[in-house]
Amino acid sequence: MILPIYVYGSGVLREKAVELDMVTADKEEISRLVADMFETMYNADGVGLAAPQIGKSIRLLVVDGGECSEAFPELKDFKRVMINPVVLEESDEDAVFAEGCLSVPNIHCDVIRPKSMRVKYFDENFNEREETFDGFGCRMVQHEMDHLDGNLFTDHVTPIRKKMIMTKLHNIAKGKVSSYYRTKLVK
Ligand code: NI
Repeated sequence: MILPIYVYGSGVLREKAVELDMVTADKEEISRLVADMFETMYNADGVGLAAPQIGKSIRLLVVDGGECSEAFPELKDFKRVMINPVVLEESDEDAVFAEGCLSVPNIHCDVIRPKSMRVKYFDENFNEREETFDGFGCRMVQHEMDHLDGNLFTDHVTPIRKKMIMTKLHNIAKGKVSSYYRTKLVK
């Protein structure tokens, strides 16, 4: 089922999402939610989606880099479901990538983040995993993990750039959004 995507200005995007209890969580319910998130993401031509973006304040995200495999061949099979992800280690070295977000339509900005990181998380089968991410795959995961703490990529841009996008952001928060996928704004 394709779900509406909550946009900039929605309260849920600013909440700190809660951990899923891996003992009591309903596996079937989570796998339905994950399927809906992938469907919603593909429909909007996105490469990542975090649960708060569909109005669920839980620590769950999905990424699929297949779409960008022309520019980043290493991402051809890069598809992950991550529950309760925690950063274990980050590189001192930073990387710059242009980011965009389905919750912030039609805005792209360069953002600096650590180049690589090691993350602990539970996968779609509720198995605990540890994985090191690098390059654009790392960036996709970092962007989505940020959503779980109520942060958006526009929080990280330079003050000058922020000034330039301010009007656009205000318009999105006022409900003036133009996107070909369904959006939702709940303050
Ligand atoms: Ni995003």
